[in-house]
Amino acid sequence: MTHAQQQGHGHGHGHGHGGHDAFTDDALAEMLDLDAEIVAPQLREIVEFVGAHAPEDARLVVDLGAGTGTGSAALARRFPDASVVAVDGSAAMVNRLRANGFTATQSDLDSGWPEVGSPDVVWAASSLHHLSDVERVLRDAHAATKPGALLAVVEMDDQPRILDDDAGRALEDRAHEVMAAERWNAHPDWTGAIESAGFAVVEKRRFELDDVPPRDVAVRYGRAFLTRVRAGIGDKLPAADRETLDQLLADGVLEQTDLRVRVTRTLWLARR
Ligand SMILES: C[S@@+](CC[C@H](N)C(=O)[O-])C[C@H]1O[C@@H](n2cnc3c(N)ncnc32)[C@H](O)[C@@H]1O
Repeated sequence: MTHAQQQGHGHGHGHGHGGHDAFTDDALAEMLDLDAEIVAPQLREIVEFVGAHAPEDARLVVDLGAGTGTGSAALARRFPDASVVAVDGSAAMVNRLRANGFTATQSDLDSGWPEVGSPDVVWAASSLHHLSDVERVLRDAHAATKPGALLAVVEMDDQPRILDDDAGRALEDRAHEVMAAERWNAHPDWTGAIESAGFAVVEKRRFELDDVPPRDVAVRYGRAFLTRVRAGIGDKLPAADRETLDQLLADGVLEQTDLRVRVTRTLWLARR
């Protein structure tokens, strides 16, 4: 667990639920993989946008905090002639990445810049907010790249929303308020940090997804996400909301519930 996570800047780790099943590497990996299925169109759009600004002859793309490789896979499709190197601090993630055919380097970005050569594109999705000294990592990225290289930073603006009726949306509003107070996924506007590292921000853009995914995917995603919510902040919600969450998570209930996924991400695109 990183310093930032211990401080509560991660995804709810370090809030007294660290040992809970919903917060293991495997649970995170399951959540990331489902997220990948659901946000695939949004991710493609973001990667396309990055690709349109990238150097024509990009040869090396580095994915910082790659997780299960969602970004790496999309980048490999967009940059078929480039090597994509996935970097992650977690041995479990790196093993998984390698097992899935990615080139992966295990490296704790808090301890230094990985030895990956001079990337043409540096991609960091939902990972900067985990780091204890983002400015140092960005300065290292600047030092490692050549003029013209691109830096793409992506963050989820809010926790996802999946319930699609009035009561569900109101419950999610209350849960989001608690998650925000607990600093789940909290991140600043990275513009200042990116620019003080020497990059020029080309564009800061929001990408919104509002979609009804295939039912089985929506149900698995809903279960993974609501389990995380229940375990992470359930005890900070009104008792009635806790009961509703338990009911939703009971066998067969989500299968009968209207689900729709809404998630917004921001991209900061910067040039070296
Ligand atoms: C929320 S996941 C995002 C994964 C992926 N980029 C995505 O968008 O699906 C954050 C990842 O950052 C990694 N990470 C956190 N702190 C790190 C550090 N200090 N060095 C390297 N990786 C780190 C975690 O292991 C995790 O896989």
